[in-house]
Amino acid sequence: MAKKVILTGDRPTGKLHLGHYVGSLKNRVMLQNSGEYDVYVFIADLQALTDNARNPEKIRNSLVEVALDYLSIGLDPAKTTIFVQSQVPQLTELTVHYLNLVTLARLKRNPTIKTEIKERGFGEAVPVGFLTYPISQAADITAFNANLIPVGEDQLPLIEQCKEIVHTFNSIYGDVLVEPEAMLADNKVCMRLPGLDGKAKMSKSLGNCIYLSDDKETVKRKVMSMYTDANHIRVEDSGNVKDNAVFTYLDAFATDEHFKKYLSEYKNLEELKAHYSRGGLGDVKVKKFLVNVLEDILEPIREKRAYYEEHLDLVYKMLEDGSKKARLEAQKTLTKVRDAIGINYFK
Ligand code: TRP
Repeated sequence: MAKKVILTGDRPTGKLHLGHYVGSLKNRVMLQNSGEYDVYVFIADLQALTDNARNPEKIRNSLVEVALDYLSIGLDPAKTTIFVQSQVPQLTELTVHYLNLVTLARLKRNPTIKTEIKERGFGEAVPVGFLTYPISQAADITAFNANLIPVGEDQLPLIEQCKEIVHTFNSIYGDVLVEPEAMLADNKVCMRLPGLDGKAKMSKSLGNCIYLSDDKETVKRKVMSMYTDANHIRVEDSGNVKDNAVFTYLDAFATDEHFKKYLSEYKNLEELKAHYSRGGLGDVKVKKFLVNVLEDILEPIREKRAYYEEHLDLVYKMLEDGSKKARLEAQKTLTKVRDAIGINYFK
């Protein structure tokens, strides 16, 4: 039986951070290494341009940063097809065909788009390309017959929109497109990491991130400045481990091995939390431990990144090869779509 196809992508609007790592990147590497799926990961530069048309330099520069991040966390072009959206023109033509199947009213109702339009303050001045990016995203998904889309909750309305397009297309033109399903990872595998300031989300626009490419000194400085519990003033005070970003990060990253290696007076995180709650444990000690834990994860990523930064030609070649492979796959779907619509006049 053919393997199920997994596809997901990122907008290149900056470097990737630890929030991306625990929220999706780590899971992608697991899915890739399971050998159970055909995996496609792509850089959605066209989608990023829909609200950055006047700032193409940002997208161009971020593209290579995201590719470096992919390679340094262990996405492997021998196992995963890594490609660039703009280099697969078949996606653009599919988008044109799908545009006819969606109403303006439906697009404006999409909760994800609604929120994003508000966040960006577009109002009625929303670029048409931005409003219609869910349709282009449906092209990304259907071009590769993707079955499973690993995404966060915020992307669910986009998967829903894609399903609708698949239904509409298939009911008019016959069974051509494959219906995708969102793949929400369970909490243990994927979680939302709060920002350094304790805000709900680590996000570039809030400036509260640890980037995968941050150097050791930067990571240390950022962790030391993290918010903990505002009422935990003296070491003797009892502290709150909930709503305490330092402990949330430890929940995400610390293993019993880390305790053995860096903080052997505690067996595990439970014991550390108990001591903090009881009182008598200072923030600095916990933060120093967190720095060690994060370094264990980030150091190998940094090393790989340094290698590829020295070999950018390899990075571009990898994207070029992946895009070529993606074009061949997407062309198969596009040919079927053209046949189904009947615009294959010269065949
Ligand atoms: N919208 C996604 C994001 O903002 C990126 C994306 C584009 C995507 N096309 C996709 C994700 C197709 C999954 C499938 O991160």
